[in-house]
Amino acid sequence: DRIEPHVVVLFGATGDLAKRKLLPGMFHLALSSLAPAIEIVGTSLEEISSEEFRELAHSACDEFSRLPLTEEQWEFFASKIHYVSQAAGPEALATAVRAAQQRLGEGARLLHYTSVPPKAALAVVHMLEKADLVANSRIIMEKPFGTDLASAVALNAELHETFDESQIFRIDHFLGKEPAQNILAIRFANGLFEPIWNRNFIDHVQIDIPETLGLDRRAAFYESTGAYKDMVVTHLFQVLAFMAMEAPTALEPRAISEEKNKVFRSMLPIDPAKVVRGQYIGYKDEPGVSPDSDTETFIALQCEIDNWRWAGVPFYLRTGKRLAEGQRIISIAFKEPPKSMFPIGSGLGVKGPDHLTFDLADAAKMSLSFYGKRPGPGMKLDKISMQFAMQETDNAGDILEAYERLILDAMKGDRTLFTTSEGIERLWEVSEALIEDPPPVRTYAQGSWGPNAIHQLVAPNAWRLPF
Ligand code: BG6
Repeated sequence: DRIEPHVVVLFGATGDLAKRKLLPGMFHLALSSLAPAIEIVGTSLEEISSEEFRELAHSACDEFSRLPLTEEQWEFFASKIHYVSQAAGPEALATAVRAAQQRLGEGARLLHYTSVPPKAALAVVHMLEKADLVANSRIIMEKPFGTDLASAVALNAELHETFDESQIFRIDHFLGKEPAQNILAIRFANGLFEPIWNRNFIDHVQIDIPETLGLDRRAAFYESTGAYKDMVVTHLFQVLAFMAMEAPTALEPRAISEEKNKVFRSMLPIDPAKVVRGQYIGYKDEPGVSPDSDTETFIALQCEIDNWRWAGVPFYLRTGKRLAEGQRIISIAFKEPPKSMFPIGSGLGVKGPDHLTFDLADAAKMSLSFYGKRPGPGMKLDKISMQFAMQETDNAGDILEAYERLILDAMKGDRTLFTTSEGIERLWEVSEALIEDPPPVRTYAQGSWGPNAIHQLVAPNAWRLPF
């Protein structure tokens, strides 16, 4: 179906996400045959000119674009970019947006993108209302959608005073990643996996997203969130829902959200006693960080989904900054056979469970590791691994990065990979005890796997990483 031309109104246009992902992403979309004609009106609190904003966008695309940038392509994209400071007020914004809309011609729609910290989100909504830019528009809201249950409920209520739910797209870019969608394909397109996808066969699941990255220039944002709100309550729980949900009645937005929300409703409240919060040594000296900051740069926790499929199966989640490796894996550990002839520790080679592992790296990969006989005399076993990698299509232009895919989906009005207010509020609800009574942060060395307490958290099991 033809997608109407779009003016993208980008709030937080000079921020880190805009530079790293959104501007390079829109550059690709502007050149892609999959996307409609677009114009971009950037805005933020900074008072810079359109020319200065183009320079900022140019260096962002130079640094972060995954495709080489030719002069001709840049000139084309630059002609689509405009900037107006939020300080200039709603009329100035309206004038710039209407002008861009006229250049695109009749039928051009508006897509607002709020790439701003949680506490600034409502100011954006109010500005759009005052600028009369709400009708016939859609709005993409960036995570973490509030900072606790009360603020999420208030944000949703206020949003609904201006925007209809059908206009609101709550983005979680992990769901735009090819490998995350591949979880649905693998689970629901095959007969092989579903029969064993439950508490009878699965011992525990790990969702492990360590990062080597530090704060970059995001201290202010990070100080207001920390690892739990930045990553877990958003990305890790969304991925967990894809892993744990029942088969939806159809591959369509409502059916998928219903199943995901059932998972969230079945989640037991996070127990602070089953959480390890960490802070890397040196964090307090980072520019912009308070010297007595209690913000966690690392979190590991156990959660449980108390339903027929998963009761009693621990889900271990971990993520953090400045860790030993950058990885994004989901690992399923299978139960030991009912009567093992090769008990763990018997010297026959079995060291732990067999695993199915999803790698959420850019190209979807999966591996199945299990025991087989080592060739030679006697009966000694080795762990062997079968690897699967999704073949990339011949047409590189068809592969969209997560944000590009989701921005395009929002332009189409396709909500399949977006989250709902109900799901988000429930996730804040299960987080309440932890937010109110967080365990103390423990320090960890940069380049490590987190504080030592992570091992007790999963005992008698072990972390799958490092491989
Ligand atoms: C963002 C978080 O949403 O996701 C960052 O704010 C994090 O802190 C990033 O680094 C990770 O995303 P990706 O796609 O690079 O794995």
